[in-house]
Amino acid sequence: MIVTDPLLAVDVIADARLCAIPTETVYGLGAHACNEKAIAAVFEAKGRPRNHPLIVHIPSLDSATAWVSSLPEWARELGQRFWPGPVTLVGARTSLALDTVTGQQDTVAIRVPNHPLTLTVLETLWARGIPGVVAPSANRFGHVSPTTAEHVQADLGEYLHHHRGVILDGGPSLIGVESTIVLATGQSPVVLRPGGVTRKMIAEATGLNVTEPQNPPRVSGHLDSHYAPDAHVILLNDSDEIPESPGGLIAFREVSTPAHLVRLAAPLTIEDYAADLYSALRQADIDGLGSVYVVLPHEEGLAEAIRDRLGRAAFN
Ligand code: TXA
Ligand code: MG
Repeated sequence: MIVTDPLLAVDVIADARLCAIPTETVYGLGAHACNEKAIAAVFEAKGRPRNHPLIVHIPSLDSATAWVSSLPEWARELGQRFWPGPVTLVGARTSLALDTVTGQQDTVAIRVPNHPLTLTVLETLWARGIPGVVAPSANRFGHVSPTTAEHVQADLGEYLHHHRGVILDGGPSLIGVESTIVLATGQSPVVLRPGGVTRKMIAEATGLNVTEPQNPPRVSGHLDSHYAPDAHVILLNDSDEIPESPGGLIAFREVSTPAHLVRLAAPLTIEDYAADLYSALRQADIDGLGSVYVVLPHEEGLAEAIRDRLGRAAFN
């Protein structure tokens, strides 16, 4: 069921049922973060491996201390600067964070999402003694992330219907790609997943060097197919010629559409590119296209997040 009243969402989550929640990045599949039954339902609904950790969504930077035992000063600055917003901090966990949430690690991921309805949900739950909502992206495992309530309905509607879950409709996600994940256990930020808050923004806010993980899981053999539609995703650079075979096309507006291709997105800016991307990938499947050609953006910042997701969508 699709609902628009945040207080209804509060009741569903407090009752240990699932509620998809809107955020500025993508929709999350929300559940009571301290209830094992609710957490188990998240993994079941998504078909997600049980050792994959979840992000805990919280109402404010102040509430972070419930989940993270110590946050370095630079990480606190990031929270102050960017929350509510598209950055997730991974810090040393408190005992509130269950093993099923952290994937048995000694860290927990937390984020204050920037969406008025979801902030109301989180604040109301907090006031009722429920300190957070776990929410992975509300798609079937490996599929394209959802940026509208309809996307969630298409992936998880049946499961939610059978388990009395709901979808809180807050309109389309404005950013369109998932949050930047920053490891906040050391002396400087390590970006685990690029996103809406760019490395440059993190460096400016903290005055520190921003690094990559020691063992980057980027080599193609280690890439999981993720964020992927059924259609085959084929990545192109500006200078590549678009193949003659049929399919869909995602590219900046300045790239014209060859007669044999279906235009799926024609963004003007990098922000529009991010906001339109997942809808366009899903549209390829709705249109029954076998292939999608994507002309990659090559700037830094948000473009990096887009290339990261598309690299995984194209991997199979
Ligand atoms: O924008 C977002 O982050 C969205 C919205 C709903 O908030 N959520 C999201 O969740 O993308 P999900 O589950 O699809 O991706 C979360 C990522 C996973 O790759 C997971 O491995 C990582 O966060 N993660 C969670 N806890 C972690 C931890 N303790 N250490 C390292 N990575 C962690
Ligand atoms: Mg996901």
